[in-house]
Amino acid sequence: MRLRKKPRIEEKIREFSHLLVDEPALWKGKWRQLFQNDNPLHVEVGTGKGRFLTTLAQYNPGINYIGVEYMQDVIYYAARKADEKELQNLKLLCFDVNNIREIFQPGEVRRLYINFCDPWPKNRHAKRRLTHHNFLAHYRRILVPGGEIHFKTDNEQLFAFSLNEFAAERAFQLQNITLDLHNSGYVGNVMTEYEVKFSLQGMKIFRCEAKLLD
Ligand SMILES: C[S@@+](CC[C@H](N)C(=O)[O-])C[C@H]1O[C@@H](n2cnc3c(N)ncnc32)[C@H](O)[C@@H]1O
Repeated sequence: MRLRKKPRIEEKIREFSHLLVDEPALWKGKWRQLFQNDNPLHVEVGTGKGRFLTTLAQYNPGINYIGVEYMQDVIYYAARKADEKELQNLKLLCFDVNNIREIFQPGEVRRLYINFCDPWPKNRHAKRRLTHHNFLAHYRRILVPGGEIHFKTDNEQLFAFSLNEFAAERAFQLQNITLDLHNSGYVGNVMTEYEVKFSLQGMKIFRCEAKLLD
């Protein structure tokens, strides 16, 4: 997804500096101190404009949420939503998921969400998919044993690829797989911006969970 840089975005985003963490590596292993509580930490990678994470944070004050998104123009919208909702349990990082192990220590994250990540359909770009086994190896290190990855997509090929990647990793047990989330009886689904868009077009949503074995 390419967006033209909004004029004055650097300046505008400063309005939300209470939500954005400038040097996240400094908080590695210390996120509890930043949130000032011992609540579990849930992280979304490729947060986009933040509909999903700000809704979860609003309804689950006993969980700390961190959204990781590398496009400043995009994370700006997530920050605006979080600010409107006056969320105390959400922080946003303008950061590349490739380097996620620089900011979370082993076992620090209880749950990780990957929603509608870019499918990168060409094989030569497979390594950029956020469910590629190189990424799974990073996630595996930062998750607590028994921690979970929750994954949603509208893209059947990406879903098939991701199921294989999870299965090949062996450290994960796949569960709650659905090929049509919105007709699956799953309760409590929170839609992302992309999910709203794709489901309005009549597309099916694929979902699975991968649990890190103890
Ligand atoms: C297709 S959008 C989906 C956004 C949102 N999750 C949703 O479902 O509406 C994928 C997002 O992931 C972000 N992204 C892709 N690769 C990333 C990376 N390596 N690090 C951080 N963000 C990334 C993109 O900038 C984009 O905002």
